[in-house]
Amino acid sequence: MLWADVSAESFPGIDGFLGTRASFMLDVVFLAMLLIVPVLCWSVYLVRYRRNYALHKKIQLTTGLVLLLAVVAFEVDVRFFSDWEIRAELSPYYQVDSWSTVWTALSIHLLFAVPTPLIWAMVIIRALKQFPSPISTGKMSPRLAHGASHRRWGYLAVAGMIMTAITGWVFYYLAFVAS
Ligand code: HEM
Repeated sequence: MLWADVSAESFPGIDGFLGTRASFMLDVVFLAMLLIVPVLCWSVYLVRYRRNYALHKKIQLTTGLVLLLAVVAFEVDVRFFSDWEIRAELSPYYQVDSWSTVWTALSIHLLFAVPTPLIWAMVIIRALKQFPSPISTGKMSPRLAHGASHRRWGYLAVAGMIMTAITGWVFYYLAFVAS
């Protein structure tokens, strides 16, 4: 049976808007990740090649806040309102009451999705504490004392977010799109 054959009323919680079986918040997070990955690459480009520290700071604080709000709303939705397992039941990659490809995909996703926000929080808190404010911007800006450590953890935070997005999309496809 095609997922499109199932009426919207058959799932608890609010349905999404992308035309899949996913809930509203799952679709919000799916789209948020699609936006955040290019914004993140742009932000790193701004520091690396333009030395625009001030704009990088603004972008990172904004994306950090957006992610925090999205994660909280998403957790509330998944825990209390919509049951993702019921929505995944029509997937050929999901089996009720046993381990399946969907669970493997979710486990791999969580390996990235759990530590990444913690790394983000740490990178942001340390940057706010250690870098001067306002940060001087431009080609002549000096290398900053906290810079080397921030670059290392910053790239780890970026890589973690990109992997969270990719593994999240794979899980989304297997659970809520495949039929
Ligand atoms: C999770 C949030 C953040 C991530 C993922 C991140 C990521 C990065 C990365 C990857 C670089 C290295 C770019 C290069 O190759 O030169 C960098 C540099 C930098 N970031 Fe961030 N950043 C974040 C938050 C912040 C915040 C909140 C501030 C300011 C308070 C900040 C200020 C800087 C500065 C000043 C540099 C240049 C360091 C130097 O080269 O000495 N970053 N960031």
